[in-house]
This record gives sequence, C-alpha cells and structure tokens, in this order.
Amino acid sequence: MKFDTPATTNPIDQLKVIGKPTDRIDGPLKTTGTARYAYERHDAVPDAAYGVVVGAGIAKGRIVSMDLAAARAAPGVRAIVTGANAGKLGKGNFNTARLLAGPGVQHYHQAVALVVADTFEQARAAAQLVRVEYVATRGQFDLSAAKDGAKAPKPNDFSGPPDTAVGDFATAFAAAPLTLDATYTTPDQSHAMMEPHASTAAWHGGHLTVWTSNQMIAWSVGDLAKTLGIPADRVRLVSPFIGGGFGGKLFVRADAVLAALGSKAAGRPVKVALQRPLMMNNTTHRPATIQRIRIGADAAGKITAIGHEGWSGDLPGGGPETAVNQTRLLYAGANRLTATRLAVLDLPEGNAMRAPGEAPGLMALEIAMDEMAERAKLDPVEFRVVNDTQVDPEKPGRPFSQRRLVECLRLGAERFGWSRRNPRPGSTRDGRWLVGYGVAAAFRNNLVMKSAARVRLDARGRVAVETDMTDIGTGSYTIIAQTAAEMMGVPLDHVAVRLGDSTYPVSAGSGGQWGGNSATAGVYAACVKLRQSVARKAGFMSGEPVFADGRVQLGDRSVTLAEVAGPDGLVAEDFMEYGDLGQKAQQSTFGAHFVEVAVDAATGEIRVRRMLAVCAAGRILNPKAARSQVIGAMSMGVGAALMEELAVDHRRGFFVNHDLAGYEVPVHADIPHQEVVFLDETDPQSSPMKAKGVGELGICGVAAAVANAVYNATGVRVRDYPITLDKLL
Ligand code: MOS
Repeated sequence: MKFDTPATTNPIDQLKVIGKPTDRIDGPLKTTGTARYAYERHDAVPDAAYGVVVGAGIAKGRIVSMDLAAARAAPGVRAIVTGANAGKLGKGNFNTARLLAGPGVQHYHQAVALVVADTFEQARAAAQLVRVEYVATRGQFDLSAAKDGAKAPKPNDFSGPPDTAVGDFATAFAAAPLTLDATYTTPDQSHAMMEPHASTAAWHGGHLTVWTSNQMIAWSVGDLAKTLGIPADRVRLVSPFIGGGFGGKLFVRADAVLAALGSKAAGRPVKVALQRPLMMNNTTHRPATIQRIRIGADAAGKITAIGHEGWSGDLPGGGPETAVNQTRLLYAGANRLTATRLAVLDLPEGNAMRAPGEAPGLMALEIAMDEMAERAKLDPVEFRVVNDTQVDPEKPGRPFSQRRLVECLRLGAERFGWSRRNPRPGSTRDGRWLVGYGVAAAFRNNLVMKSAARVRLDARGRVAVETDMTDIGTGSYTIIAQTAAEMMGVPLDHVAVRLGDSTYPVSAGSGGQWGGNSATAGVYAACVKLRQSVARKAGFMSGEPVFADGRVQLGDRSVTLAEVAGPDGLVAEDFMEYGDLGQKAQQSTFGAHFVEVAVDAATGEIRVRRMLAVCAAGRILNPKAARSQVIGAMSMGVGAALMEELAVDHRRGFFVNHDLAGYEVPVHADIPHQEVVFLDETDPQSSPMKAKGVGELGICGVAAAVANAVYNATGVRVRDYPITLDKLL
C-alpha cells in the first residue's frame, strides 16, 4: 500500500483500543524473567560454548604477532578466532571500522580475537593468556586539535547537505543591535544500555542462525552476510527482546560476527556477550561536538540572523554528528547559515545515539536562546514564541504538517508555574539551596520508513501479527497488538504479536523514532488486506463491513471472524510505503521542557527537583508507553546535562571511564518528579495511524533546560557539558 495523500477517516480513528493507556503485553514476560534474551537461548541452543572477546590494547597501529599457545592449551578451549585465521571478511554498509582487527588496528578495544571454551570462566581465563605484540602509530584523538582540519562531510540520506545558507548572514549579524557569539561543547557519550551487545550463533550446513540483540533486523542480516561473505538468504537473525539500544544496536557489532566465526571454528553453537568494560571502546558512541552559535536580533527580540556551525570527529570514512540540523527548522530569521564539519579522529567509531544530531545540537542552541532572551530582556518562553515560524525558514513556501511549539511552551509554562520564576539569576534561596527554573524547546524530525507485516486470522477468531519489527523496550509489541485489535475488531488479548525474526516481513525497525508510527502503519496495511479477504469470504460483495466484537457485519448480516476464517484460517501480508508527502510539508515533532533545579550554595551540588515535558507528536498510540518513553528520555537528558562523559585519553586514544562505575548515568535518586503532557493532535500526513515519534523527542532540549535552570539558580553560565560542580565554583 502506498501512502501519498493525507489520511482520511479510517478504522484506527475508532480509538477503541488505540490511544488508550495500555499495559505492555510483554511486561509479564520481562518482569518474571521469562523473556529470553539473546544470551539466554538455552531452549534453542542447549549446547552452546562461550566466546570471550579480546580487545586491542592500542588505538592505532598494527599487530606484529599473536602468541596463542598458552590460551590454546588452557582448559576447555575449543577455538580461537583471529584476523589471521578467520578467512577474508567483508565490511558491512553500516560499520566504519572492521569488526575484527588484523593486522591493522583502527581503534582501541577493536576485537583482535575471540576465545571459545566450554564454560564462560574457561573462556575468560584463556582470553587473558592471549599475547599480542603491537606497533603503535600516532593517532589524532583530540577534537579541538583536529577541528581546524575538519572538512565538509558528504550529504547523507537522513541528514541532508552539510551546509545551508539563506539571505546574508554576515551583514545581518554585523548590523544587529543584539548579538551572541558563543561556543558550546558536548562530550562523547555512551549508550550504556542495560543489556550488553550479545549473540548466540549456530550453523546448520551453510545456514547461520544468530539470536541477537539488534534494532534493525534487515539491515543487520545484510551486513552480517556481507561481512561473512555468504548470501543473505542463508542468514537468520532472531531478536525478540532487547534490553535497550538507544542506537547502539542499530548495526551488527563484533558479538554477532565473532559468535558466527567462533561457532564455525568450534563446530558447535557459540554465544558471545561483550564484556561491559569492552563496550564503550569496542562499540559505537555519540561523538563529542564543538558548536559555535551566532544569533543577531533586533531591539524587539526578533531574530534577524542565526548561524550554527558544528564540528565532530570520526574514523576515516565515518560520519558527522549533525548537531546543526534543527537550527535549519526551529526558529524564524531571514538570514541564516548552518555548517557541519567532520574531522578525522582515531577514537572508537562514532554513530547514532538517541536523537543523533538534535540531542547535542539542542544542548547548545537552547542555551544560546536563553542567553539571547536575556540580552533582549524577554522571558525565555516569550523569546521563543516571538521567534516561532510556521513555515520551513530555509524554504518559506514549505509549511510544517503540524507545528504546535507555541502551545507546548504556553501550556508547559502554565502547568509548571513558570510565572513564579525569578528572572534575576542567583537570587532565589531555599535554605542552603539556590533555586532556578529553566526552559528549552524540543524538536525532532519525524521520519517514515517502509514497513511490512503479515496478519493471520485463525479458526478461533484469533489474530497473529508477524513482522521483523523490534521492541527495544519501547512498547512495539503493545502498539502493534492495539493496531491489529482496532483494525480487526477483536479484544487486545485475542492478538498475538511475533517480532524480531528475519523470517518475518521486513519492517521499519527501531531507529530514528520512526518505529512506532511506521511499523504500526505496516500492520494497518496488512489488516486492510485481511479485512478485504474476510469480507470476500463472508460473501459481502459491496459496502463497508463493520469489524467489531469478533464479528464482521454488513447490513443485517453478521458472522463471527472464527466462522469466516474456517479451519484453514486466513492470512494477508502487505506493506506501507511513502510517496513524497514528506517533501511537500516538513514533518517534525515538537515539545517544551521545564526544569527546576536546586544548587547547593556551598558545594555546587546540583539536584534536579521537578521536570515537565509537553509534547506535540501526532496521535499518541499508547499514552502509557509513550509517557514511559518520554520520562526515560528526560532521565537520559539529565544524564547528558550533569553526568555523562566519556573521558578521552588524548595520548593513548581511548575512553578511560569504560564501565558503569566510571561512566555515570542517573539513578532513581537523581530523578525527581516528572510529568509528561501530550497535546491532543493527529497528523494525517504522517501515515494512516496519524502518529509520529516521541522516543527521541523526549531527550531533545532536556539538558539545555537543566543548564538554563542552573544559570537561573546561580548566575553561572556553563557552556561545556556535563555541568559538573567544579564548573560552578
Ligand atoms: Mo536511534 S539513535 O536511530 O536508535
């Protein structure tokens, strides 16, 4: 099915099941520990051996020799895979660095070997005995040092051109009575998801099955096949449960490739979980940025010039952090420029992490807006309202499909009690605490992706949905069940959902906050087809039958779905794909974050006291799951504001704090009262579901709202994340 005109009324609009706050149908499996994750597939693979990865001890250079004798002689060892004995490996489309080093080493902790043994302890002990001799060569590990040599990256499907310009920025900025020219920095960050990257691999003849933890099944089947040099139809990926991804599991990583190679070498199934201390340097991370923002405004606070330049680094052949992209769309202003520059760094591979681009971009832009509001002597909410735009400011003929940023700001201000904010920084005391309020806008584009599903109706009138869509803790199972229940007119508990298996139709997958809307739209398409089959088989030749209460009815004739399905059942498969509707109108999601902080006047300790998010993101398919997404994102935003930073060793070229003791993320005690409000809206241009994404919108702007609250509390403007207490003293 092709979606190329705005959606009209359809069965989803009944909202009998969709739009209702609904408990996760997979919740009991997870809370009772019976959901089987990739490393726990004893049911399917009872005889798996254990693989432990050895990571490179240098950041850049060459392996001179590997002494495997002691490891091979260790108890229980079945195989050792290295670059020298693995055969020729290809490189996937989505990896920048190779997933098994040798002889060249491209980054610290790049895998150099997999040791396979009968037990995990044996494999771990033997891995310690692998001796590697390297020749290290000089690398560049410091973004600020590499910045001047940075170049414009190639345009990319998701992020567009590196540079944009409208009007005459330089002249308008020079002429503006109110100006800001400031530089902001965001650090390298790690996804630090709860479940490590993990895979269990088994070969049957030339066919490979990998139980893994992966967000994008079809991409990863393709990449795994390419890496191993086998046809994609001989690779099956199974990933029904994922303990967090945040973009770190969009792509095949070393665990999957090495489990496959280890299994081949050992002649039996092998499972590999990346050790926590290996993850931060072995897998991808969100790259650090340096961002220069210049804003000029007239005396009334109207922006006349806005410029945003962003620098980040990656390995040769890698991509940039597109931190300037929201600035192309968020605020009005006749004269504008954005520029993205990419430096070559020899640090581990950078890639997508929750709201790549916008998350770090808004960390800078939304502080800059706070600084400009102060110069314009406007309330920060008002300053944003004054500079709202209802058209794409780079292409003024192009509207937004929906844009209710102003309502998010206004409603949020009212709910939060923003009028109680003292505009004079550093002047509100609560005992030993300095108290401050901060606000920031949230913005994230809404992407749509082709997505397919198969729907079965059985002899009992039960519905089953199959699609390779994944659930990374987001609630995909539940919204897909809700969609099928709504479409087929059956109760939610009459729908079974099977996800994350490459034998099922190819879905949008979980990425870029496109999964919820796109994957349910694919299920919608398959259900439309199934409804047609049901109507035909029931003998309803014309007219629109009604599907409700497990029955299908037309006029005064009504039959149960069970009867229509008959003993053989019915099955339908279809996909939803998208025309150029998204080109005609800009599809984006909007929100506003409000934060209250308290800062200890003596020690500089920062506590977040209250948070509120107001989001405008199309139809909210399951307000309960969507709220969970947003409060999770708000928590992650607090981490970005106050804690998260991969500390770079600029001499040796690695992230020093590579475990969860050194890489700090918020814990429950750090997270205060959080409230989430969704504006009641539908976006008929997004899909027949009229929904959009919220999982990434929720993090966008949060850290800046915290930073602005810290400024309001203390009068100290920190432009360098994370805002640790030393920066306040
Ligand atoms: Mo997202 S960073 O595309 O999982």
